[in-house]
Parts: sequence; structure tokens; C-alpha cells
Amino acid sequence: MSIAITPLITEEQIRARVVALAAEIAPRLLPGTVVVALLKGAFVFAADLLRELARHNLDLNLDFMVLSSYGNDTRSSGRVLINLDCQKLVENRDVLLLDDILDSGNTLTFAVNHMRFKGAERISTCVLLDKPSRRQTYFQADFVGFTIEDLFVVGYGIDYAERFRELPFIGHLTE
Ligand code: IMP
Ligand code: MG
Repeated sequence: MSIAITPLITEEQIRARVVALAAEIAPRLLPGTVVVALLKGAFVFAADLLRELARHNLDLNLDFMVLSSYGNDTRSSGRVLINLDCQKLVENRDVLLLDDILDSGNTLTFAVNHMRFKGAERISTCVLLDKPSRRQTYFQADFVGFTIEDLFVVGYGIDYAERFRELPFIGHLTE
């Protein structure tokens, strides 16, 4: 079986949207907010968004969390595991959670609850891609890059079985 990747969102489209997102988010963030990026998928998005947010003179902190629910499959197992927790930093602080894709909603629901448990003051969420048709748990992100159809995508940090994260654009994967 061969794998094909059809371009869906170009590098230029991503860049323009990230600039606009930063302008949308910046006025709603308090200085000292901790940006928590969910790894691995959000690493490229977080790097680009953070550098755009820097133009808005916010004094931010960055932290990471590694959650998994997928294994090497293309469907969510519904169970979310913490592979690496973020540091204590978030207690009594505002948190902006960043993820690559909002799909079933299980990951971000878990992450928001976890931040609350760790004592975060105010939690907002931002995702690069939203697939509303796939939701299993009600969840609406505060900031969304692109809303897409029910397609399996890769690139710009997003993988299929750990492959294709290095692609600079977002493509639709078919087998
Ligand atoms: P959720 O818990 O189902 O909302 O899953 C969100 C996570 O599933 C994302 O952070 C991705 O890591 C993964 N995911 C969802 N859709 C895709 C996709 O189309 N390609 C690759 N990973 C995906
Ligand atoms: Mg992920």
C-alpha cells in the first residue's frame, strides 16, 4: 500500500494565519501567562506563534506537556496519558494551552482539567486545526487557526506514526 500526501494548507497560508492569530490572542493575554504547548504535535506551531506573540510585547513563559491518546493509529483511543507533565510554574498563573489539532476533544478536555488541578488561574486554549465533525466530547477552543473537514492530516509538526512532522506545509494523507 502506498501513501500519498495532498497539500491542504500551504506554508504561506499557515504563516499568514499565525500572524493573524497572534494579533487576535495578544490583547486577551495578561503578561506572565504561561504558554503550555502539547508535544509533540504542537512544537512547530508553538515556535511560530510564540515568536509572533513576541511582537506584541507580552512577557510570556513557555512550558511543555507530552500527552498521548493515539498510539500509532489514526483514531483516538479515548484514553489520555501523561507521558511528561509540565513544571509547577502554572500555579496561580494564567495558562494558554496550545495544541495542533482539536479532534475528538479528549486531549484538550483532559489538559484543561489537568491545568485546573495544578492550580492554574485562568485557562485559555488555542489550536492550529479544528475538526468539529469529529468531536466525542463537547469542546470549543478559544482560538482556532483553521477549521477543516474530517481528513487525516500531516506536516507542520503533525505526524502519522511519527512520520511527516518535518513537512513545512499541511497535507492530507491517504493510503
Ligand atoms: P483529540 O484528543 O481526539 O482531540 O486528539 C487530538 C490529538 O490527536 C492531536 O493533538 C493530534 O496529535 C491527534 N490527531 C487528531 N487528528 C489528527 C490528524 O489528522 N493527523 C494527525 N494527528 C491527529
Ligand atoms: Mg497531539
